[in-house]
Amino acid sequence: MKKILMISAMAASAGYFPHGSLWAAGDLPSKFSGLDSIVNTRHNLTQNTSGISTSVIMGSYRNNYGEICVYCHTPHGANDAIAAPLWNRTFKGNTYTTYDSLGTSTLTSEVHQPGVQSLTCLSCHDGTVATDSVVNMPGSGKYSAAQKTSQNDSFLNTWTNESGPDATVHLSMKEGECLACHSSEAGFLGAGAADFRIANIGTDLTNDHPVGIAFPQNRVGKDFVDPDVKSSKLAFYDSNSDGKASKMEVRYYSTGSVYRVECASCHDPHGVPKNGSSGTLIPMFLRVDNTNSSGLCLTCHDI
Ligand code: HEC
Ligand code: HEC
Ligand code: HEC
Ligand code: HEC
Ligand code: HEC
Repeated sequence: MKKILMISAMAASAGYFPHGSLWAAGDLPSKFSGLDSIVNTRHNLTQNTSGISTSVIMGSYRNNYGEICVYCHTPHGANDAIAAPLWNRTFKGNTYTTYDSLGTSTLTSEVHQPGVQSLTCLSCHDGTVATDSVVNMPGSGKYSAAQKTSQNDSFLNTWTNESGPDATVHLSMKEGECLACHSSEAGFLGAGAADFRIANIGTDLTNDHPVGIAFPQNRVGKDFVDPDVKSSKLAFYDSNSDGKASKMEVRYYSTGSVYRVECASCHDPHGVPKNGSSGTLIPMFLRVDNTNSSGLCLTCHDI
């Protein structure tokens, strides 16, 4: 216990937290190994490679589809209400409180509502949609077009878990739902559920690094680094010089007129191996490791 507290205090004083300042006094390490691919990360919502007894603990609160990609993608019948790759999740079209409403005097670029490459993440991390709210369930022929824009629990209830009890409620990542177990001292230290409060970003983005914000071209050479490649869809820092946007490369997403920062500028939700191909993944689904030399921040900022 003492050791956990000490480590978290050290981490809290060593760094800048891009998503708010809430820091748990002590948290549990992940049971996932964090090796090789998404299979061994927290984005594997089946939890079936972590040694967690999902059948007993989590079964009643979210459908266990037994597959990993399906919580986000489907090969057929994808959600065409949002221009995200073969997207299988409910897209509610929420309005967000953007970073600029905080009113810092330093910000120069205009901030817009989050783009698609942020809305995909927010479909779980804003806590308004259940993590298992999909349009097309795997291998079952169970499909609901209405699920594209609203969460229908009776449709979700038709799923039979492959092991353990069937889900009777479909929780989202917010207070009183997933966080009912994944937050309180009793919850996370007592029952063994890690603290997920900081991942519950909500719809107020004023304490998060701005997204939906344009790359300030006029600050290149002053305090911003110019991306190596600018295409019609992306601008990116081509660290391996192959002319393509590789997963370990930070990018901006084009809106036609400007390039913007979105969640996926800094993060790859599938995980990025440190050595480029296999082995240990960079923590926090980051594209560039930010430990020691702040390599991620300094890819864009030249401060
Ligand atoms: C009834 C309490 C409870 C609820 C509700 C609950 N969980 Fe859990 N969860 C746990 C416990 C306990 C563990 C750790 C189990 C273990 O250590 O074997 C866990 C583990 C996890 C893990 C693995 C963490 C890691 O890295 O080791 C994830 C991811 C997770 N839960 C996601 C969710 C999501 C998403 C929801 C909401 C849909 C949710 N949980 C709802 C109790 C709960
Ligand atoms: C937690 C959600 C999530 C899960 C689970 C997930 N993906 Fe993705 N995937 C995304 C998002 C978000 C994007 C879009 C990234 C962007 O905007 O640049 C994406 C993009 C992709 C792309 C397009 C190329 C790229 O890398 O951006 C492929 C291919 C892909 N996913 C395959 C998979 C496969 C295969 C699995 C299962 C092994 C999987 N994904 C699991 C969220 C997920
Ligand atoms: C299907 C739901 C879902 C989607 C979509 C999703 N996430 Fe997550 N994510 C989770 C859950 C559940 C956790 C576990 C909560 C935690 O770690 O605090 C998590 C954890 C994380 C973590 C912390 C990882 C760790 O090891 O602690 C990061 C970073 C993250 N997500 C980023 C993203 C980004 C960026 C996107 C979009 C590109 C995204 N997520 C899309 C469900 C999702
Ligand atoms: C400018 C880069 C950047 C952008 C943009 C960004 N993140 Fe992060 N994010 C980070 C870094 C760096 C960390 C690791 C912080 C740490 O270790 O505590 C992180 C951590 C996280 C975590 C884990 C919780 C935490 O703070 O430790 C989640 C969840 C997450 N990001 C989700 C998102 C989502 C969703 C978006 C879009 C709304 C987003 N991120 C946009 C850089 C970014
Ligand atoms: C993908 C490129 C990119 C990355 C990576 C990135 N930033 Fe930024 N950051 C921006 C842009 C663009 C702005 C908006 C600048 C403006 O308009 O004034 C910004 C703004 C900021 C601001 C100013 C906010 C304000 O109110 O004036 C701070 C502070 C900041 N970033 C810190 C960080 C930190 C710390 C990291 C690493 C965790 C990071 N950034 C990573 C692109 C990036």
